[in-house]
Amino acid sequence: MAVYRLCVTTGSYLKAGTLDNIYATLVGTCGESPRRKLDHVGRDFAKGSVQKYKVRCEAELGELLLLRLHKERFACFRKDPWYCSRVSVTAPDGTVVPFPCYQWIEGYCTVELRPGAASTVSQDSLPLLLDHRTRELQARQECYRWKIYAPGFPRMLDVSSFQEMESDRKFALTKTVPCAEQGNNPGNRYLPGFPMKIDIPSLLHMEPNIRYSATKTASLIFNALPASLGMKIRGLLDRRGSWKKLDDIRNIFWCHKTFTTEYVAEHWYEDSFFGYQYLNGVNPVMLHCLSSLPSKLPVTNDMVAPLLGPGTCLQTELERGHIFLADYWILADAPVHCLNGSQQYVAAPLCLLWLSPQGALLPVAIQLSQTPGPESPIFLPTDCEMDWLLAKTWVRNSEFLVHENNTHFLCTHLLCEAFSMATLRQLPLCHPIYKLLLPHTRYTLQVNTIARATLLNPEGLVDKVTSIGRRGLIYLMSTGLAHFTYTDFCLPDSLRARGVLTIPNYHYRDDGLKIWAAIERFVSEIVSYYYPSDASVQQDSELQAWVGEIFAQAFLSRESSGFPSRLCTPAELVKYLTAIIFNCSAQHAAVNSGQRPLGTYPDEHFTEEAPRQSIAAFQNCLAQISRDIRERNQSLALPYAYLDPPLIENSVSI
Ligand code: FE2
Repeated sequence: MAVYRLCVTTGSYLKAGTLDNIYATLVGTCGESPRRKLDHVGRDFAKGSVQKYKVRCEAELGELLLLRLHKERFACFRKDPWYCSRVSVTAPDGTVVPFPCYQWIEGYCTVELRPGAASTVSQDSLPLLLDHRTRELQARQECYRWKIYAPGFPRMLDVSSFQEMESDRKFALTKTVPCAEQGNNPGNRYLPGFPMKIDIPSLLHMEPNIRYSATKTASLIFNALPASLGMKIRGLLDRRGSWKKLDDIRNIFWCHKTFTTEYVAEHWYEDSFFGYQYLNGVNPVMLHCLSSLPSKLPVTNDMVAPLLGPGTCLQTELERGHIFLADYWILADAPVHCLNGSQQYVAAPLCLLWLSPQGALLPVAIQLSQTPGPESPIFLPTDCEMDWLLAKTWVRNSEFLVHENNTHFLCTHLLCEAFSMATLRQLPLCHPIYKLLLPHTRYTLQVNTIARATLLNPEGLVDKVTSIGRRGLIYLMSTGLAHFTYTDFCLPDSLRARGVLTIPNYHYRDDGLKIWAAIERFVSEIVSYYYPSDASVQQDSELQAWVGEIFAQAFLSRESSGFPSRLCTPAELVKYLTAIIFNCSAQHAAVNSGQRPLGTYPDEHFTEEAPRQSIAAFQNCLAQISRDIRERNQSLALPYAYLDPPLIENSVSI
């Protein structure tokens, strides 16, 4: 007789516990255990509980390969979802084998778990395990299907695939009991008092492992509700005329005040703060250093000489690398919207900036279109105050459109959704890269689905309040993706290509490079542990399918993007993973706002000692970066905290 001891941990999420019956089967190299009901007196799988059971076998099972958890009906109770965190199994010889689960198990089904040690497909040789990988991926690919949202867009999650499926089929690798209940589809609804149409079914029918808790979903929706109603009450949402004075705008933004918002309200019209925002505002990726002026911006030395002062000229400053350009070319052909019966206008500005000897970045010329001529004058700081202020205001309006649609939503939210989809579809749970990336992709599918249902949908907020509307948004994002490159995606390469490596007071760059280096060091340790050679990367068919799917579905197989369609060396894999994790966490924090901190891994997907030590080292490194940033911020008038590690979320989830 051999006795195996099981320790089962149920998650602490709301409704994580279940009343359903749970049985377990252990599968080893020398045979299978009997199916054993996990049952004590009283409630077994309450939220947050840790329960111990014994599974008796006639003989030892050899090396443990799989744990099967069977979830079945209890008496006449309705089926009850269960969030199983993990099961650890102690063999008769005392060896402890962890089985990480960390997933919701809905309906009546059997879930097969592998031990926690990660393995690539080429490290598996047993047909049982190879078959397990194949079936797991088939099930996921059936569940997570790609959808074309608009031409030229990165592909995204087809939420309707969840509605078509019976819930039991979503996770189970083996379906044991058919489900008789069908989800009811209530149809699209307007929430009472909510000014935008919301696709309720797509939110309700999301596969539970990718959705927030029900309370989080509710808070996301209902936090948007007062904000929208507030805009309506204060006359912002359907305003038909112009504001009479600048203080009228201040009245619109009477709530959500912070130190930063107050600082901006005090300094927004200053040239030095206008320049500072290009470095450390929410869109710190626009500036390019110029060695010569583009022909579409015919600024002369005479125009800017009074600003540059004596002893220098425009040509000298160009040669010194002190002249920068923010070019909003992408807006030149954007469709323009009509709001509340009023035609809207969009500028496609060229904004020239100069790095002064005092280290301030100052705007020195603005042209509001891409075509120079009498219809498009060049505005200068020496013009009358209101003309110059208005020219800068148009630039900020263009900045908002490019930032929110492309830098924020396209380059973090939508691309991270594609990474998340490819990871779920191409990498099994036991794959080291799945374990590495899961925390950085979590919740992204859900938050994007909510955004599409409330903000981007026809009649949504984008259509109601922006000058380009939804049609313009689709144009901007598809054009942005068509020009987005692997260089843009990798922070060090992007900074080098833009010529901004030495510009002073660029805290986004300084903090971002430190975070990038910390992620790169952590990823290098994980990759070198699982991929000792070029061949180990090249022969990992699952990894190559994952890269290929991202290339095809996120970047639409555009070779000129520079994104890889396959990876050949561990170094290439390290760079690719570093860029993905950086963009899913730090870059989103820099362009969104402070919100679970980077490097926090409450679910223990990695169970071996080496990757666990790498995680600890990564956390220590981030803590040091945080101390450095906080010390630096003490000397800044406006502290730069967007890339302070405790304020960086692990994933795109807001
Ligand atoms: Fe966001």
